[in-house]
Amino acid sequence: MKDKCNREIKHLRFSITSKCNYNCIYCDQEGFIPKTSELTVDEITKLCKILAEILHVTRIKFTGGEPLCREEIVQIIKNVSDLHLYKDISMTTNGLLLYEKAEELYKAGLNRINVSLSSLNPELYKKIYGSDSLEIVLKGLKKAKEVGFNPIKLNFVLMKGLNDGELDNLIEFCGINNYILQLIELHEVSDAIGGNGDFYKRHHLDVKPIIEELESKAKETITRGSMQNRKVFKLNNSAVVETITPSHEFCMGCTKLRVGCDGNLFGCLYRSDLGKNIKEALRNHHSLSKYEQIVKQVVDSREPYY
Ligand code: 5AD
Repeated sequence: MKDKCNREIKHLRFSITSKCNYNCIYCDQEGFIPKTSELTVDEITKLCKILAEILHVTRIKFTGGEPLCREEIVQIIKNVSDLHLYKDISMTTNGLLLYEKAEELYKAGLNRINVSLSSLNPELYKKIYGSDSLEIVLKGLKKAKEVGFNPIKLNFVLMKGLNDGELDNLIEFCGINNYILQLIELHEVSDAIGGNGDFYKRHHLDVKPIIEELESKAKETITRGSMQNRKVFKLNNSAVVETITPSHEFCMGCTKLRVGCDGNLFGCLYRSDLGKNIKEALRNHHSLSKYEQIVKQVVDSREPYY
């Protein structure tokens, strides 16, 4: 299904809980505050099936809050994997519970993980994430690699005056350990979802000059057309760096549909207000055409934010 800008929906970003065991200073809450209760495990599974049937999406990323805070997380992964409709099931996590859960998640069918890691300095880590847990996260990353996750991506949100001196460190760390680094430009979080404009003003750093520098050093540069035109650089130390910078080009390459933990479907991180909630329809066991109507309304509402 295509939107009015001819962008086809190719993957889902599905929040399964708004609960979190961290308190990140930059948190965007996935652009959404749930208004009603979380979908049940059966509803999540059913919705994944319906959306795959309607949109023919084959890729899904689970997010939160912190997805590992959802007690039934392993069951959810297993159920979705058992649908045999998704070829790529991934998750964004802060990594705190990864050491404990990596093995069962992998066995349940999770293919890939992205772990937030904006600092390798324990003090700074604590300041950014509000949790003194760098060590256990690093243990979790090792464990994840041991049990078979590949690739493993690290999310590094660049913040002026905080971790802007750590990028080279992270690139080296990723080169050594064979992780992919995602260099993410800080984006603004609206007051309505708990943001603080002052934080953005103080810590936002334009990533463009860094991208130019990486590009000049890179052995190879790739543009991921189906992923918001993200640029990927292969560097000499064998590190791979992907870049995520909000821009018009970025929006024009967006092929994502978002699902909030209470069943709100929406098309843009910044526009959850344009969403439509599908929970009631799920509870009333509607026909596929009814679901299709809701999904189409959401897809039609998609427009580039930048
Ligand atoms: N700016 C950029 N990235 C953010 N994330 C969350 N909030 C922000 C923000 N304000 C990203 C981080 C985190 C993922 C879940 O969302 O990369 O790892």
